[in-house]
Amino acid sequence: ASLRAHNTFGFDVSAQYLAYLENKSDVVEFISKAESDRQPWQVFGGGSNLVLAKDLPGYTALMQIKGKSLLKETATHFYVEAMAGESWHDFVQWSLDMGYPGLENLALIPGTVGAAPIQNIGAYGVELQEVFESLQAFDKSRHEFVTLNKQDCKFSYRHSIFKDEPNRYVVISVCFALPKQWEAKLGYTELAKAFTNQDSLKPIDIFHRVCEIRRSKLPDPQVIGNAGSFFHNPVVTNELYQQLKQQFPQLVAYPSGQEWKLAAGWLIDQCGFKGYKLGQVGVYEKQALVLVNHGSGTGGELLQLAEQIKKKVKETFDVSLTVEPVIFN
Ligand code: EPU
Repeated sequence: ASLRAHNTFGFDVSAQYLAYLENKSDVVEFISKAESDRQPWQVFGGGSNLVLAKDLPGYTALMQIKGKSLLKETATHFYVEAMAGESWHDFVQWSLDMGYPGLENLALIPGTVGAAPIQNIGAYGVELQEVFESLQAFDKSRHEFVTLNKQDCKFSYRHSIFKDEPNRYVVISVCFALPKQWEAKLGYTELAKAFTNQDSLKPIDIFHRVCEIRRSKLPDPQVIGNAGSFFHNPVVTNELYQQLKQQFPQLVAYPSGQEWKLAAGWLIDQCGFKGYKLGQVGVYEKQALVLVNHGSGTGGELLQLAEQIKKKVKETFDVSLTVEPVIFN
């Protein structure tokens, strides 16, 4: 079966066997069968953080368990839950419609709810971990359903236990704790600048502004294949940061605890890659951190382009970029 419609780069690779998971027992059945047949297996959400550079052997499944609800309400919080196969953006929109604000900064992020905790999605001043309560997953090692709380998930920037232990857990549902005392999160400069009068500011205003900013900077995967940021923003020591800042006074960086997070888009941009093309793949013309498929590109070409970029950035800044999406090659 072709996976072209199931990865946002639109790479045309195929899965040897493709299954659709619509409820919890489908998940148990799928994994049990793959394990007993001694086949490799993987579960995909929206395919928005994937580089498929080869046909996939074994068993591939698409997570399609649906549902979203208010689990409970306390004096201070709404606890909302969505099943893993829900579209993340639809869930954000639903939560606002229902009067449970708090996810608005994370509007328009492609992909599913189940994939969101894997890389601790973050954008426009908010990371998933800030609103995360717990999740339910199928644990392959214990062959049972488990509940993981925030500590269990070991979240950090674009990272979690699911990155450390790939293929151990299949996320089934995710629960968020949204404070009833809503506060606008305007840590992202461009967002703060958009709102001069914060007294009457509503969650939906932030939602709309975030959507606008995203649309102006990031390509719509429906139109041009991409997986959002292709590299992490590298976190470097204060020592290296000071050194780079002296050498490159325009360097864009943000404090991150005792360390500094460098804008990888700036580093790549400085190397002259913005709008660069390699065959049918390239660097997005408005945001150098985003690699794109112009139509009939392949995962192999894209990885070649990524290597060129990594090499040049290393030569220029002595900084090693790491790839954000999950790669199959
Ligand atoms: N910049 C350039 N040239 C470029 C791109 C960026 O000079 O071509 C500089 C600009 O100074 C800009 C700064 O880099 O102000 C940062 O760029 P931007 O605000 O677009 O954010 P980012 O660091 O490139 C991160 C996330 C995005 C998230 C945005 C907004 C990572 C890897 N990426 O991007 O997440 O939407 O911040 O919060 O942390 C994703 O993970 O797929 C993703 C899109």
